[in-house]
Amino acid sequence: LLCPTMPESSPSSTRYITTPIYYVNDRPHIGHCYTTVVADVAARFQRLFGRDVFFLTGTDEHADKVVTSGAEHGMTPLQWADRNAAEFEKAFKAMNFSHDDFIRTTQERHKTKVVEYVSKLQKHGDVFLGEYEGWYDESQDEYLTETVARESPQGAYTSPVTGRPLVKRKEKNYFFKLSKYEARLKAHIDQNPDFILPESRRNEVLGRLREGLQDIPLSRPITDDPASAWGIRVPGDDTQRIYVWIDALFNYLSAIDTPERRKYWPPTVHVMAKDILWFHAVIWPCMLMALGEQLPRTVYAHAYWVRDGKKMSKSLKNFIDIDLLDAYIAKFSRDAVRYYLVTQGPSASTDADFSHMKFVEVFNADLANGIGNATSRVGNMIAKYFDGACPDAKGNAGLAGHD
Ligand code: ME8
Ligand code: MG
Repeated sequence: LLCPTMPESSPSSTRYITTPIYYVNDRPHIGHCYTTVVADVAARFQRLFGRDVFFLTGTDEHADKVVTSGAEHGMTPLQWADRNAAEFEKAFKAMNFSHDDFIRTTQERHKTKVVEYVSKLQKHGDVFLGEYEGWYDESQDEYLTETVARESPQGAYTSPVTGRPLVKRKEKNYFFKLSKYEARLKAHIDQNPDFILPESRRNEVLGRLREGLQDIPLSRPITDDPASAWGIRVPGDDTQRIYVWIDALFNYLSAIDTPERRKYWPPTVHVMAKDILWFHAVIWPCMLMALGEQLPRTVYAHAYWVRDGKKMSKSLKNFIDIDLLDAYIAKFSRDAVRYYLVTQGPSASTDADFSHMKFVEVFNADLANGIGNATSRVGNMIAKYFDGACPDAKGNAGLAGHD
């Protein structure tokens, strides 16, 4: 899906491919491995074409749930983040991902850049002090408008993603002037049909944009609750910390914001699932306009892996976890797992069910019979007609002794 269009989509030879940075409140699961394997296949494909690729993944660590789940395990937020970030790195190694960097938002290199970007937004007059009163989805760390909260597909005033009840929040925050960029964003989406993909997702974003954009909190207050100290301080105000989503989105820029890596900007594609499309297709581009940066070429949101019709997620505890994926790797090989995820996954707009029966069927039909047989026949013919040396693509005899 992502591969065929990408060689043409940009005339330059660099490609910048990203995954979301994942929350470290728990261990990785199939959803994280899925998005990352899709991005990995796209990155490998681009490298085969001779492109200069930068493939980024990593972890998002300043969420409140990292503090609470860490405390439940008797650890400080950073200890807990270290532990789970290591789990992600281990899982990504087991899956043979070829990322060029793994960014963690608690790293100094990221934190310094975030402070720089927020200062720049302040200087440009895009930040103001205000008060938020409205709905907050604690399970997603997301502020919701009245309409979105009321019309949640999971029931009025519940999280549209997890179905958990929303909470009313009233707090003092610095706001980002999102509304200022509404017209420019709409024009950009209209003029660039590939900016948000697949098309059904693009239409959803356009639909929600018709209600207009409200300014959004860029920071959150630090209160008496020690948990509220977790996060990057707002430049010039020690009583506020940068809202975790603003902090997180900046990773795409902070990771390549060095003289050697700047050439990779703008991103070729940000890959993610539909749960976080709004942040990437609306909030992030407006932040970039405010900073005077070029926009990503494509924001790609696939659907969900589901189980019994429900999204798999850490919050719902119904996920195919990394231990189960490891068991599949041990039994069927990691390439078989990669193949199953990529070919049977929810790459477009329809959700996909993880099914053991289907896994075995695909393993036998595609890998053993189809690709396995073809490989074995080709190998036999190379032995018989080319003295066991692989011929080149035009059929000229290969290098003797080369395996
Ligand atoms: O949202 N099916 O992190 P997160 C398919 N930190 N993909 C799934 C999935 C499922 N059932 N569950 C998760 C965050 N994913 C933020 C992102 S980015 C600047 C900050 C994948 O740990 C999918 O890519 O909740 C989804 O968008 C992502 O994990 C959410 O990961
Ligand atoms: Mg999530």
